[in-house]
Amino acid sequence: MKKICAANWKLNFSPEEARRYFAEWSALRPANLSCDVLFFTPAYDLTVAAEFAPAEGFHFGPQNIYFETSGAFTGEISARAVHSLGARWALIGHSERRTLFGETDDVIAKKVKTAISSDLAPMLCVGETLAEREAGQTKNIVARQVRAGLGRVVTETASHTLAIAYEPVWAIGTGRVATPQQAGDVHAEIRRILSDLLSPPRAHEIAILYGGSVKPDNAKDLASQPDIDGFLVGGASLKPKDFFAIADAL
Ligand code: 13P
Repeated sequence: MKKICAANWKLNFSPEEARRYFAEWSALRPANLSCDVLFFTPAYDLTVAAEFAPAEGFHFGPQNIYFETSGAFTGEISARAVHSLGARWALIGHSERRTLFGETDDVIAKKVKTAISSDLAPMLCVGETLAEREAGQTKNIVARQVRAGLGRVVTETASHTLAIAYEPVWAIGTGRVATPQQAGDVHAEIRRILSDLLSPPRAHEIAILYGGSVKPDNAKDLASQPDIDGFLVGGASLKPKDFFAIADAL
């Protein structure tokens, strides 16, 4: 399986700033990156990503979609429309969507289904809070989120590209990164759940990314874990140089 280095820009960069970013990316890009690169940008930057993607060889997608693809849903993002712009991935169920915008497992499951029917590869985000970790609930929480997110699309996922991003909520934007051992343990558990839900061969084709304070100086140690197949990077993806250094560790 090819590893994936994904950027989550969150609510950063206007289209003009996005264009400057990709110009810098293009100038700095090393020829020998061995992983796939994805950018999850704000919706209004997707057309800018689409301009650069073919020559730069990356994929891109939105940070969220709605589970309906058209109609009276003010302010939402259509999976079908972003696909028509060239997006091939969609980030779904990020912890900021779950906690700040009230997304439930049920809503997230519907979004995963819509992504697949719109020919977007879903990257399903899962992860426990600090209180849940301290209560010894990490594996239960992650198992619930993976099973709920994929439970309705077991047949479709047999042949559709998807990925899981494990992002412990306590490590996001805090500078407090999971140790390679902590992350590796949860990734191995996610692989086990995928084997059970889908099949062992299929589970080994699905990339499981780690996210949460990934930086150039901790990426190598995390990448050495056998079940860590990539990174989902927030803050450090905002500087092309740092994002390259992280991608280079994979
Ligand atoms: P940071 O890399 O800023 O901790 O963010 C992680 C994240 O939420 C990526 O989706």
